[in-house]
Amino acid sequence: MDVSTVSALWDLVPLWYLWYLVLLCALVQTVRFAFADADFTLLWARMFGRKPEAELSGLVVWVTGASSGIGKELAYQLAGCGSRLILSARRLEELQRVKQQCVECFRLQEEDILVLQLDLLDRDSFRSKTDVALQHFGHIDILINNAGRSQRSLCLETSDDVYQGLMELNFLGTISLTKQVLPHMMQRGTGGIVTISSVAGIIGAPLRGGYSASKHALQGFFNCLRTELTDYPKILISTVCPGPVQSNIVQNCFTEEVDKVMPKVEDQHYKMSTRSCVRLILLGIANRSKEMWISDQPVLLFCYLWQYAPTWAWFFTDVLGRRIVQNFKNGLDGDRLYLKKPKDS
Ligand SMILES: NC(=O)c1ccc[n+]([C@@H]2O[C@H](COP(=O)([O-])OP(=O)(O)OC[C@H]3O[C@@H](n4cnc5c(N)ncnc54)[C@H](OP(=O)(O)O)[C@@H]3O)[C@@H](O)[C@H]2O)c1
Repeated sequence: MDVSTVSALWDLVPLWYLWYLVLLCALVQTVRFAFADADFTLLWARMFGRKPEAELSGLVVWVTGASSGIGKELAYQLAGCGSRLILSARRLEELQRVKQQCVECFRLQEEDILVLQLDLLDRDSFRSKTDVALQHFGHIDILINNAGRSQRSLCLETSDDVYQGLMELNFLGTISLTKQVLPHMMQRGTGGIVTISSVAGIIGAPLRGGYSASKHALQGFFNCLRTELTDYPKILISTVCPGPVQSNIVQNCFTEEVDKVMPKVEDQHYKMSTRSCVRLILLGIANRSKEMWISDQPVLLFCYLWQYAPTWAWFFTDVLGRRIVQNFKNGLDGDRLYLKKPKDS
């Protein structure tokens, strides 16, 4: 078709028709966004991208924090994809239980899963643990830095020991393990480091001062590391930012003092299911996403506002932040975005 034919056909299309098309596209995207549970890149990957079952089968994947919550579900879904696993956390019996479940429910043999007890605060042990993993499997394809703890306490009421604990576990433990594993991937020229950060790693939220700082630190570190690995295009450095997800994170989180446990944990059912979150993480890995935002609304909207319209983001954060702090001071769940009445009022 020559240029004059195209231009003649173009003249036949009325202008109002094009406007309708643009409006229709905008409407479809708005509706899609209203019901979205992840950023647009991940949504695209879910519809048209590569499937984890095809991409992750046979790969050796090391998951930290595999004894609970997101890490445990990662182990199950990776086993379902046919990945071989290294499962790490402090609680050995829990890890053995997860391994047993993987062997019984999926087509994996005992030797396809290595239980490797690991305390992320014991950085001196990381070299020998990495050696054990390499001796067992010969190589590591993907490290998923998932282990971590959160926090629920006001910034000024939180002891320095809590801030130190959060940084040592969430930040130093994670980057130190990465420094042991990554050189082996660089030698092979292929691999992936996937780090479970948080929406709190890209936005500020009340009651999570130290947690948010540790996750922002992770974001900064891995963004820099990625820029240093441009000569290794087959190595994926990915950060995952989930919003609220069902797990034991609230029970296990730090409060004002290191040894003070959370007084009360409310129903977590309004949060995204662990299964949906993990499916999206695996889709992101299969499609080599560098950063994933995984959350239901309205937290997802917040991510976009913080990224593209920070003035609006501050306006909404001030409104919601006040409610969350008020709920917390009334002894109610500091996770909820809406204002609840204290039970005794
Ligand atoms: N759930 C959410 O709403 C949410 C949202 C955003 C991001 N995240 C992130 O997701 C990751 C997983 O959290 P989760 O929600 O699954 O919480 P979780 O159910 O409390 O699981 C945390 C895991 O971390 C491990 N862990 C804690 N301290 C450790 C240590 N010193 N050494 C080794 N492992 C340790 C725990 O195992 P052991 O106790 O057996 O050691 C456990 O397996 C965390 O990085 C968290 O920040 C969670």
